[in-house]
Amino acid sequence: MHSALDPASPQARAIAHLWWWMLGAGALVWVAVIATMLYATFARRTRRGADGLQALAPAQHGRLERIVAGATFTTVLILAAFLVFDFTAGHALAEHPQRALTIDVTGQQWWWLARYEDPDPSKSVTTANEIHVPVGEMVQLKLRSADVIHSFWAPNLQGKRDLIPGYTSTHWFRADTAGVYRGQCAEFCGMQHAKMAFYIIAEPIPRFQAWLAAARQPHQEPTDSLLRYGYRVFMSSGCALCHSIAGTEARGTIGPGLSHFKSRMSIAAGTLANNRANVMSWIANPQAFKPGARMPSYPLTASQLDALVSYLETLK
Ligand code: CUA
Repeated sequence: MHSALDPASPQARAIAHLWWWMLGAGALVWVAVIATMLYATFARRTRRGADGLQALAPAQHGRLERIVAGATFTTVLILAAFLVFDFTAGHALAEHPQRALTIDVTGQQWWWLARYEDPDPSKSVTTANEIHVPVGEMVQLKLRSADVIHSFWAPNLQGKRDLIPGYTSTHWFRADTAGVYRGQCAEFCGMQHAKMAFYIIAEPIPRFQAWLAAARQPHQEPTDSLLRYGYRVFMSSGCALCHSIAGTEARGTIGPGLSHFKSRMSIAAGTLANNRANVMSWIANPQAFKPGARMPSYPLTASQLDALVSYLETLK
């Protein structure tokens, strides 16, 4: 599903390009080494003396020296060529655009917080684990960590970039094909490092703008009695201490923000598909799916759980 060899941005293409050349050069060197080895084996056998010992004729000696010198020279040449190639690719990756959409991304055990800054703070949007970006526009990611070292890696779009506590690193890419690109934390960061995935959703500019506009919509107080009950369960059972819902009292930052929960494809950072059955199982016992995650099990009654999930499903 995610592949560095299926690039969807100029940055990932530069990396894939370098990779294919290295594979090609490596394959040629391998073939040359094996061919030389076979030749040497064969040449020595034909010159086995009557006493069974092997000796090189002076002409063979000279040829061997030329082969070794030629191989050494070729090695230096190949390494020098790749050094230049590598610098060129690195330069393309580090290109500093004049203008870019900036998204603040914070990695924490074990999910991703994404914040779309706006000069008008009321227009800033916070989401988790799914990052929408416009196709054809440069995107700047400001990467931070809330706890340990993580690594942001969406191989179809860019190389890896570490998130280091106390330090902000920047990362750039420009998706040029619409699509959903899976990313993965690429630095071991604890028990659920493997379940620290994310998605980058690259969409045409009008769709991205529509998504952003929808994400800026204020929270609607539920009016239906079931949903109102679900809302009360959310606020009184501890959910709001760790999760936020913009426009409500819920301002927790330990777990992913849930303002537009239902618009996401997955829950628990790519661990489960976002559907009713999974959400119910997850709330009842997160540790069964993601042992070590900071969310404890919630012993809610069936009616509380039903109302809570019904309310969460209204957060679009
Ligand atoms: Cu975060 Cu590995």
